[in-house]
Amino acid sequence: MSGTAATNAQTVTITLDGTNRTATLPLLHGSIGPSVADIRKLYNELGIFTFDPGYGGTAACDSKITYIDGDAGILLHRGYPIDQLAEHSTFLEVAHLLLNGELPNAAEKHAFDMGVMRHTMLHEQLRSFYNGFRRDAHPMAVMCGVVGAMSAFYHDSLDINDPHHRKISAFRLIAKLPTIAAWAYKYAIGQPFVYPRNDLGYAENFLYMMNATPAEEYKVSPILARAMDRILILHADHEQNASTSTVRLAGSTGANPFACIAAGIASLWGPAHGGANEAVLKMLAEIGTPANIPDFIAKVKDKNSNVRLMGFGHRVYKNFDPRAKIMERTCHEVLNELGIKDDPLLDLAMELERIALHDEYFVARKLYPNVDFYSGIILKAMGFPTSMFTVLFAVARTVGWISQWKEMIEDPSQRIGRPRQIYTGPVQRDYVPLPDRG
Ligand code: CMC
Repeated sequence: MSGTAATNAQTVTITLDGTNRTATLPLLHGSIGPSVADIRKLYNELGIFTFDPGYGGTAACDSKITYIDGDAGILLHRGYPIDQLAEHSTFLEVAHLLLNGELPNAAEKHAFDMGVMRHTMLHEQLRSFYNGFRRDAHPMAVMCGVVGAMSAFYHDSLDINDPHHRKISAFRLIAKLPTIAAWAYKYAIGQPFVYPRNDLGYAENFLYMMNATPAEEYKVSPILARAMDRILILHADHEQNASTSTVRLAGSTGANPFACIAAGIASLWGPAHGGANEAVLKMLAEIGTPANIPDFIAKVKDKNSNVRLMGFGHRVYKNFDPRAKIMERTCHEVLNELGIKDDPLLDLAMELERIALHDEYFVARKLYPNVDFYSGIILKAMGFPTSMFTVLFAVARTVGWISQWKEMIEDPSQRIGRPRQIYTGPVQRDYVPLPDRG
């Protein structure tokens, strides 16, 4: 493929070797980031598709929400750097930014916060869904089920072509996910469900529903509420990752937003994606002590072992993950607030990070700690069981998913997602009756 400058628009020309056929493709430019060859006419012009398993080199949409420069370690939401948002903003303000494109003014912020918070309660009948699950069900299984079931309860916001319905569905999802998540936890430990309190902040209310019981008063630590809010901000959106692409693909068929977000939750569950924070803690528990790190690193480097250093590496970040740095800082703050002077897990994680960052294997492959390397340690210190880690990720990412879904539905050029393939199976052959098969 060769890039050729055109008079007023750059193009890319592809020549099919051995023929005189060429296709001239427009080169599209975003506001920042690499340009993108528009291959939509390639099949018509040359009769060929492109092959890109994992979509590492393919832009599936244009988006104004999130920008990542993986080499420079930059993450921007609507242009604002993640570290500034994590430092100065709140999760609901970031939600407004992602959904609506701008930081809200005071009146907008008040209206948005109220708009979300007044939807925190679940339809009372949704309570009975929990009884259908085993007590030892993974809470992500409960999340997939209960969030999917929301489509059966909120019929008055299912018209995806109505902007008001889209807005109410977004409010409902953002508001109810913490309640659904906290109840999944309460169900697992056999405690009564705690109803939301709209006089509390978003993260504060979540921690309240997780930790309070009807038996005694419970006050959420402001430092922990702030840390939780920051964790939610750091996970709010991340461009076209696997779960977001799942939400877009499901949404491209016209499926309702609750069904789409349930699909996103299923996609997030895997250990290569949102399940990584849970996997990090399991890995640290398996390693046990710093003395065992060299053996573990040797296993990671052995291609036959299938062992990966969880919380390390990223499809896009090849320098550092800016979220990981903020997460590490937050980790120290939380442990300090909780009076945990020496956390053996944190010591182990820091030693593992130190060794990996100096090891040729990781350096050569540009593998650095990602957002999940430290988040598990924070959540464990705050009292979350490991099975809830990915659930928290889902609560936060719901904001990104619904913003990306809304952007897609509002895009007039949106079409149903339908990738192509290279077929490598048998060519056409005739049916063989059973007695004739050898
Ligand atoms: N430990 C050991 N080796 C690794 C790791 C790792 N964590 N990640 C990548 N590699 C190696 C991989 O074996 C390959 O080596 P080689 O070139 O010799 O075959 C090379 O690095 C490139 O790996 P890749 O699989 O092509 O990279 P990818 O972009 O497809 O994978 C990833 C990205 C995040 C799935 C992967 O780095 C990984 O599995 N990391 C551990 C899981 C994890 O922490 N996931 C959370 C990601 S951040 C939160 C989120 O987005 O959900």
